[in-house]
Amino acid sequence: MIFVLTGAGISRESGLETFRDKDGLWTKVKIEDVATPRAFRKNPKMVLEFYNQRRREVTDGHIKPNEAHLALARLEDALEKAPKARGSKLPGLFLVTQNVDNLHELAGSRQVCHMHGRLNAAKCDHCGARFDWVKDLGVEDVCPDCQTKGLLRPDVVWFEEVPYYLEEIQEMLYQSDTFVSIGTSGVVYPAASYLTVAKNRGLQTVEINLAPTVSASYFDRTFYGPATKAVPAWVDEVLKAP
Ligand code: OAD
Repeated sequence: MIFVLTGAGISRESGLETFRDKDGLWTKVKIEDVATPRAFRKNPKMVLEFYNQRRREVTDGHIKPNEAHLALARLEDALEKAPKARGSKLPGLFLVTQNVDNLHELAGSRQVCHMHGRLNAAKCDHCGARFDWVKDLGVEDVCPDCQTKGLLRPDVVWFEEVPYYLEEIQEMLYQSDTFVSIGTSGVVYPAASYLTVAKNRGLQTVEINLAPTVSASYFDRTFYGPATKAVPAWVDEVLKAP
């Protein structure tokens, strides 16, 4: 199985901002103002508006998946059709994204593990219910499950919170023979630890990024360049392999 971890860089050429690049979101907005539970308690309007703007970007139809998202969907398809020939522990592709956008789904990926949650979903901070939500969120909104007002928030994982699906992700990493890191700086834990786990378990490791990251020397193979070129190039190589 091929384990793919994506980050903000894969969506950059679709028009979405990354976080830590020189024009990234965290150079314009402070993490502690918009991306922690405390920020939401202190200033819910500001936090909801920050995510409303980001949700509108992915729901107004202007932002489209790019060649990199499409290549991963093509790879998922191809591996599903010819699983046995590849001799993996488990066949197929496991796609984990740190991104909260929906571009992998729009590209046709059927199985996407959103470890940092999704912009198009809301969560009730009172009862914990989670559901699809594509409109703006406001402090007047009421939880459809417990009827509490004012505690609906985007279903995205904030700093100091535990990402989703960690057990499943670890299990899939253990079942994989290749680990591929695409468009992520690889500095946010626990995703940042997957490279070490992969190395320790003898997986082949591949980095695809605009430029080498701080962990570049730990990867067996590297593809540097814009994701729209580098990801299809890697996918073509995988599909041509005997
Ligand atoms: P970062 O902003 O930390 O890293 C983006 C990476 O994308 C960098 O390594 C860039 O070199 C690369 N990149 C930029 N443009 C690219 C392009 N066109 N093609 C290929 N690569 C490109 O974003 P993430 O690593 O995704 O979490 O950040 C991880 C987490 O930190 C996010 O999920 C978010 C953030 O804080 C939370 O909000 C909890």
